[in-house]
Amino acid sequence: MSRYLSDHVHLGDDLTSVVILDQTLLPNRTLYLTLREPEEMFEAIQALRVRGAPAIGICAGYCLAALAQQRRGLPPARFRQELSRLARYLGSSRPTAVNLSWALDRLLERAGRMPDADPPAIADALAEEALAIHQEDIAICRAISEHGLTLLKNGDGVLTHCNAGPLATSRYGTALGPLLLGHERGMSLRVFADETRPLLQGARLTAYELHEAGVDVTLICDGMASMVMKNGWVDACFVGCDRVAANGDTANKIGTSGVAILAKHYGIPFYVLGPTSTIDLSCPTGDEIEIELRDPEEIRSKFYVQPMAPAGVECYNPAFDVTANELIAGIVTEKGICRPPYAQSLAALFR
Ligand code: MRU
Repeated sequence: MSRYLSDHVHLGDDLTSVVILDQTLLPNRTLYLTLREPEEMFEAIQALRVRGAPAIGICAGYCLAALAQQRRGLPPARFRQELSRLARYLGSSRPTAVNLSWALDRLLERAGRMPDADPPAIADALAEEALAIHQEDIAICRAISEHGLTLLKNGDGVLTHCNAGPLATSRYGTALGPLLLGHERGMSLRVFADETRPLLQGARLTAYELHEAGVDVTLICDGMASMVMKNGWVDACFVGCDRVAANGDTANKIGTSGVAILAKHYGIPFYVLGPTSTIDLSCPTGDEIEIELRDPEEIRSKFYVQPMAPAGVECYNPAFDVTANELIAGIVTEKGICRPPYAQSLAALFR
């Protein structure tokens, strides 16, 4: 077991519940929640108690598996109806990260391959499938970390946005994986973490994970990225992804596309790191990616001692933006690094 938090999402001991570390309380409190009801599971994903595209997928898999265990006594037809209904319900908790529907579909497909099985056998198979998704993600993050590390040399400065570390995945993470791995191997790397307004995943989670691991991390406000790049302190940008379209356009946390535009201005390579489960070839371009809109209160008052904006002022709060493929120097997956043109290199991953 690595020292990074790889078990922040797991099945409860009796397989009928899911245990998650509540990421909304970090870095101040380490509190694990046990989720049993579909509504609690939906709320945990929507409220970002568990977040980050791969972690949402892992969690959703465990949630459907736990709900299936609870319903193993149902008649077969009713059991299958319930599985589909619950998968649709959990899948509607957040629209942008494709890993959510990817994981749920994978469990439904597993059930579909057992047409004659009774509910207990299907429920057990779903627990196995959900565990497999989690185990595979650990190996995938490790492979992404190895590939990503080939893009860095000793002494490099890396800017990252949002959180794509162990908390957002299983172990190592995607964008933070090469930084943690490089540090383990004795490399000297300096990381600049954008705080990532409005929900501060960079300040609360990235700075926390890297600081805990002993990586040299400097927290900056999002608006300081240009200054840090101009100072010559950034050799590469590493970010995660929530959905990569077939042409390489990439949805990630709001503010990511601004980082990519700045990086182009300063001639700094901008890399996206993510598992192939985040690549959605059925989505032709970024224009077709649904962007989640969130509660304006996250901008006006959340995390402040008192509101920082007039009550009721109009706010626009998209949770993600799309970075155009021409701004991306490479997309690092567990299978290797894709380079432009992405329509060809991404498709080749699935052949
Ligand atoms: O809203 P969040 O915190 O779930 O957004 C997370 C991100 O945008 C991450 O960068 C992305 O999911 C990749 S996680 C490896």
